[in-house]
Amino acid sequence: MAQSPQPHIKNLADLLAFEAQLDHSICGTSLNDQDETRLAEEGAHDPTPTHYFVLEHLFKHFSFDEDSRLLDVGCGTGRVLAFFVLQGFPGHATGIELDPELASSTAAWASRHRNLSVLQGSALDLDLSPYTHFYLFNPFDPNVLERFILALEEQLTHPFTLIHMSDNGDTWRYVGRPGWSEVASGSIKNCQNDRGHKFSVYEWPQHYTVWHYDAAQH
Ligand SMILES: C[S@@+](CC[C@H](N)C(=O)[O-])C[C@H]1O[C@@H](n2cnc3c(N)ncnc32)[C@H](O)[C@@H]1O
Repeated sequence: MAQSPQPHIKNLADLLAFEAQLDHSICGTSLNDQDETRLAEEGAHDPTPTHYFVLEHLFKHFSFDEDSRLLDVGCGTGRVLAFFVLQGFPGHATGIELDPELASSTAAWASRHRNLSVLQGSALDLDLSPYTHFYLFNPFDPNVLERFILALEEQLTHPFTLIHMSDNGDTWRYVGRPGWSEVASGSIKNCQNDRGHKFSVYEWPQHYTVWHYDAAQH
């Protein structure tokens, strides 16, 4: 099923309604519903889902096969997991979520899909070594990100691809580190529907970076 915005989508409200339909088709509920984080003291950011059209754009940089293991770092309501199912990607997708209530509601719908798993806890405490692909959408404060990058470097001996969306101000944490090479970067502010009509989705452009990591170069 295509997640590209169709002609009748002309503004953010239309887009959210369209996304809610897609969510319902795979999860039985809308994933757009969100509150502020209860865990700001632990460096957590709000559980805002990534828009489907953004995932469609970014995930062109991921190549999955049956052995692929995607980790969505801070999965929130599980939009990335829903997208993984909608696209019919091979392999397995896991979301880890710090907030116990969110993790539990996401795990409830995800349990219907055998290629999805949801874990509750901090990404900082997880064994990261099984994963081949990582996705981050603005999950936490820079000090937590620094510890997460160090954990990746310590634990992973195989190459992996990591996409960090909305790394405005965070992208430099990866720059110049041995083993990391930038594959692509860009920014997203607007959504464009199938007829070329553009409307603003983010207040200011959201920068993203795609990284390849090879421990042999570390
Ligand atoms: C902006 S949301 C992203 C949701 C989802 N990844 C998506 O793209 O639709 C960030 C999520 O990261 C979670 N989070 C923050 N710190 C975390 C940590 N240390 N470990 C796991 N999850 C964390 C937050 O609770 C929040 O739900």
